[in-house]
Amino acid sequence: MIILENISKRVGARTLFDDVNASFSPGKRYGLTGPNGAGKSTLMKIMMGVEPPTSGKVILPKKVGFLRQNIEDFGDIKVLDTVIMGNDRLWKALEERDHLYEGEMTDEVGMRLGDLEEIVADEDGYSAESNAEALLVGMGIEADLHEKKMRELPTDLQFRSLIAQALFGEPEALLLDEPTNHLDLESIGWLESFLHDYSGTLIVISHDRHFLNAVTNHTADIDYETIITYPGNYDQMLVTKSSVRKRAEEENKAKAKKVANLKEFISKFSAGTRASQVKSRVRELNRLKPSDLKESNIDRPYIRFYPPEKSSGQICIKAEGISKAFGENQVIDKFYLQVHRGDKIGIIGNNGQGKTTLLRMLAGVLEHDRGKIELGHNVDLGYFPQNHSDVIDKSQQIEAFDWLRTQKQGVFDQDIRSVLGKMLFGGDDAFKQVSHLSGGETARLLLARMMLFNYNTIILDEPNNHLDLESVSALSWALTEFKGTVLFATHDRDLLSEVATRIVAFDEGKIRIFNGGFDEYMADVHKTQV
Ligand SMILES: Nc1ncnc2c1ncn2[C@@H]1O[C@H](COP(=O)(O)OP(=O)(O)OP(=O)(O)O)[C@@H](O)[C@H]1O
Ligand SMILES: [Mg+2]
Repeated sequence: MIILENISKRVGARTLFDDVNASFSPGKRYGLTGPNGAGKSTLMKIMMGVEPPTSGKVILPKKVGFLRQNIEDFGDIKVLDTVIMGNDRLWKALEERDHLYEGEMTDEVGMRLGDLEEIVADEDGYSAESNAEALLVGMGIEADLHEKKMRELPTDLQFRSLIAQALFGEPEALLLDEPTNHLDLESIGWLESFLHDYSGTLIVISHDRHFLNAVTNHTADIDYETIITYPGNYDQMLVTKSSVRKRAEEENKAKAKKVANLKEFISKFSAGTRASQVKSRVRELNRLKPSDLKESNIDRPYIRFYPPEKSSGQICIKAEGISKAFGENQVIDKFYLQVHRGDKIGIIGNNGQGKTTLLRMLAGVLEHDRGKIELGHNVDLGYFPQNHSDVIDKSQQIEAFDWLRTQKQGVFDQDIRSVLGKMLFGGDDAFKQVSHLSGGETARLLLARMMLFNYNTIILDEPNNHLDLESVSALSWALTEFKGTVLFATHDRDLLSEVATRIVAFDEGKIRIFNGGFDEYMADVHKTQV
């Protein structure tokens, strides 16, 4: 059981939560939802004890597994050990035990070793390695990588190791902040079924609606400056939430009407003869204060990539037999692609197959080994990387507004304000420190940057990661309407089926180019499988 008692949290001038009480019971699987910047990650950090609430307290079970975000701290640690570290009590006992065995054996040391062995047995320490291995394999990390150091793995596999760490040691509660961001569909499927069978208290944050619906059976929604828990998964929550809200609004409307009638009566007759009737109506009026309904915090950004000043030539990008290897791993081998003006190319495939590598080469930020990449006439190319920190250094002390101004020479302040406003950084929010921005807010700032330029060709690598559903659908609209050329990698099926006019599919070492939309592609794959 996780209990929040009178939790309040203020950040800067803003109140994220005001006196929240909530409890989360074992056996129930909660989605923690709310738009970007609502305070989901902050609340989870409060629960994990890494950030203090302004007031209030949290009661947690003894063993809580959580998904760490500080990947760089594990660089020198072996992958298998990283997973076992998920059980803190066991890990500490193992470390102390190994240390004691190396030193001199005294009676005292012997006694202590006895205690430690007891803890190890108690925490199922003798099966620790095989349990950790099973979790890693489930996350798609094969045995030959388990003895490697974390930093030797590609970033997405490091993230997956941290998921295995969170799940390790049968925690009584699991707290996961956006676990699917770096996962492909296969690993998402594995995680879905693992979590679905989990019997402790699960709280998971995700903007992946399909994932939430598959995993959760309760939804704690952050809105109206508080948290309301609804039974049901994400889709069921939306239905309940809107009907509750509608009822409240209707009640308020009816009350407001009655109030108006009463006021009219009172002002008409207050000076006259019907004093007692007026008095009773005044009493009624006082009882009828409409409950003040807080505004919802759900808001949709307005994303638009402006029509390019000059359009590109008929052929935008030409890749002729390009290859790329990392060490012995031949990621891309003699790949040919002609990107035509107006193409909206969706790039799909499991992680680690080379989507990002291909996009980085086409964007000109990564050298290719062999072959030729030619940009067409007048191509003005913008790139949105998978890893936000490639473009924005969030450890620096700078406000969003100033950061954006450094990105384009000679830009007017009002243009910056306008584009920030469209991306929901209105008013003082334009002056937030970039280091404070939530994941979704950072993604919106990078999109704002792209909107400042009149690119005619844009390359986006998993742009929907971190974005809430409103923002993803705004992005989908922007890409569909865009008059230029788009290449984008994503696992989001809705985005693919709405935007893509061609598909480049990575499938076990082969790259297939399909001249049609995503739905046609899926139908075709299905047909050839049958
Ligand atoms: N120290 C701070 N000072 C000012 N504002 C802050 C600070 N820390 C966080 N914020 C703001 O608090 C809000 C909540 O941030 P949080 O990271 O919890 O959002 P979130 O719901 O997890 O969003 P996302 O879906 O984008 O991950 C954001 O608007 C963020 O900019
Ligand atoms: Mg967050």
